[in-house]
Amino acid sequence: MIFVANLKCNHTRNSFKEYAETLDKNISENDIVLVFPPSVAFTEEKHRFIQGAQNFYPCENGSFTGEVGKEMLDEFGIITVLIGHSERRCIFNENEDLLKSKFEFAKKHNLNVIYCIGESEEIYNQGTTKDFLLKQLNNIDLTYENLIIAYEPIWAIGTGKVADSETIKDIFSFLSQKTEATLLYGGSVNTKNIKEIAKIDLCEGVLVGSASWDVNNFIEIIRSLD
Ligand code: PGA
Repeated sequence: MIFVANLKCNHTRNSFKEYAETLDKNISENDIVLVFPPSVAFTEEKHRFIQGAQNFYPCENGSFTGEVGKEMLDEFGIITVLIGHSERRCIFNENEDLLKSKFEFAKKHNLNVIYCIGESEEIYNQGTTKDFLLKQLNNIDLTYENLIIAYEPIWAIGTGKVADSETIKDIFSFLSQKTEATLLYGGSVNTKNIKEIAKIDLCEGVLVGSASWDVNNFIEIIRSLD
């Protein structure tokens, strides 16, 4: 299982240093753990987890006020990026054109991409989730070898309402007909539901938001599958 922590806009350089130290002590080389801290908290030290970037702009550097370019990621040895998270899509209005250029830039530079897709509650209730997800995937190369897809229903993110196992299984089986990419589930994953989610066919990992912000809670999620 792959365990991904999305710290979002939480943790400072100091608090992430402690987070990283505690996490290192509680995971082994055999665990596949990725952590996405805020960019100002990136660490240059070696860790047992892989550090990734929550966001970047598809450039090396340049006149892009407030953005993070590849040159800055390189300095921290970061080769893993998140693209398409619903908060970037909805709050920061990242549209398909930008997501496409981010993906293409990442592919050109051989970065590992976790590409997030997911439907709103309205689309879920209409029963058109699969069509919607396909549209979200239209812009990217589904054969890209360093691609991981995270299925994160928007209505499940930060709400405590996890999608039920049958729904996730059905979506994963649909996605697996379109791509060989590794599939993750995200949306209200916590210490109570991790075992159930881990059992779902084709589920190779989880993307954890709020339940990962407390390092001990994230460790409990990882260790509960031992
Ligand atoms: P959540 O967030 O675990 O708090 O629902 C998941 C995510 O946004 O990736």
